[in-house]
Amino acid sequence: MPLIRLVEVFNNPSNFKNITVNGWVRTFRANKFVALNDGSTVNNLQCVIDFEKTDEKILKKIASGVALKVKGELVKSLGKGQDYELLVDTIKIIGESDPELYPIQPKKHSFEFLREKAHLRIRTSTMSCIMRIRSVLAFAIHEFFRKESFFYVNTPIITGSDAEGAGEMFRVTTLDPKNPPFDKYKNIEFKKDFFGKETSLTVSGQLEAEAYALGLGNVYTFGPTFRAENSNTSRHLSEFWMIEPEMAFYDLNDNMNFAEKFLKYILKYSLSNCPDDFTFLNDRYAKEEDKKPKIERSEMGLIEKINFVINQKFKRITYSEAIDILRNSKPNKKKKFEYLIQEWGSDLQSEHERFLVEKYFKSPVIIYDYPSKIKAFYMRANSDGKTVGAMDILFPGIGEIVGGSQREERLDILEKRISEFGVDKKELWWYLELRKFGSTPHSGFGLGFERLVQFATGMSNIREVIPFPRTPNNASF
Ligand code: 4AD
Ligand code: MG
Repeated sequence: MPLIRLVEVFNNPSNFKNITVNGWVRTFRANKFVALNDGSTVNNLQCVIDFEKTDEKILKKIASGVALKVKGELVKSLGKGQDYELLVDTIKIIGESDPELYPIQPKKHSFEFLREKAHLRIRTSTMSCIMRIRSVLAFAIHEFFRKESFFYVNTPIITGSDAEGAGEMFRVTTLDPKNPPFDKYKNIEFKKDFFGKETSLTVSGQLEAEAYALGLGNVYTFGPTFRAENSNTSRHLSEFWMIEPEMAFYDLNDNMNFAEKFLKYILKYSLSNCPDDFTFLNDRYAKEEDKKPKIERSEMGLIEKINFVINQKFKRITYSEAIDILRNSKPNKKKKFEYLIQEWGSDLQSEHERFLVEKYFKSPVIIYDYPSKIKAFYMRANSDGKTVGAMDILFPGIGEIVGGSQREERLDILEKRISEFGVDKKELWWYLELRKFGSTPHSGFGLGFERLVQFATGMSNIREVIPFPRTPNNASF
């Protein structure tokens, strides 16, 4: 007999009568009611046990965390809280669990506590909702690109080049850390390392994606990226997943239009494909907001906020316009910002981004045309001589969710930028060659997958939206 998942039962209860289901006990009360969950849905199946028919030894073992196989008849429930329930005929313990030791008790646990139990936290309703939505969002992303005739490319994870030029890479080596080979100047001889040169985990698949865009036209990557930046914030991971589309013949404006369309599509898709998970998280979010002081509370509910982003035209402003707004803003004048905005050219901090999105425009914002000095070497120089065709998309509660640009397709200008930035030109010989053979304007961007999931699920910390987070001083599990 094929195994039945609870989601199928709840979607079409009238199709099921006598069924066998498997799952884990969420709660067991009055020696009679088991709330069973198999992970396919946030909803539990209430299993009603007739203790006269059930072996006492089995009854004694039923507790939160136990894995069960239950056979019975699905009937309409007269009780509150569920439409259907299972009148248990036979029950079998598949995996025992000691209720004294099982950490996931049927009560509210803090996220901090659950991070220490990351191997078991998926058995909570909140974490399972997040991870189902994460999975559906990943599917939505592939679906969107397939519809738009994009090709999925897998770019290398081990690389010799620092695509972002920020020097925040994790080294990959097989050299003996106790006794590495040195040259006569006491420098480590990476020539003798596994790849015959110094290599690291990639910070971005963009440069290789550009090569593929200039042959396949429109491509995207969706893979893990690694950054050794020491930012212990609620929005940074050392290992995260990034989606990087790259489009030949797109200019910055095409890029912004496409990114906006993309974000709206995938959010809409997930809302309509995970209704129960979003309802659960929406209620949770409302309860959390209620606990906050009134002035800190979000003006919108979670689903409302997502719909707002879907239906809103993103506000577009240049970096220069953003600086003017910020310079004249109340928090700047009253010195409430930690980093005061003084002159044109300084980088925007997340407090500034959030002010623009949450207070000033009350809308997602795209900032474009940034000072060339604060952006990566590959971004296309504008004719003003001081800005580049960069664009960042800022979301409420998150700040930067997308970073992208038009790419410099002119060989001479790119070469100049590379030397100004002190990037290793020899390493990028192939990237430069793309500008010699059929170079075309092209553009792309990177969407931080976890920041997207964080926005969609209303989590305040990014560590809750990836199964086993890696952050400074933490690589457990
Ligand atoms: O702005 P970033 O650094 O851009 C790039 O890497 C480009 N190569 C993208 C491109 O044009 N193809 O990163 C892109 C996005 C950010 O907007 C953010 O959402 C996410 O990646 N991101 C992080 N997410 C979690 N933890 C981190 N440490 C992140 N760093 C960036
Ligand atoms: Mg960025």
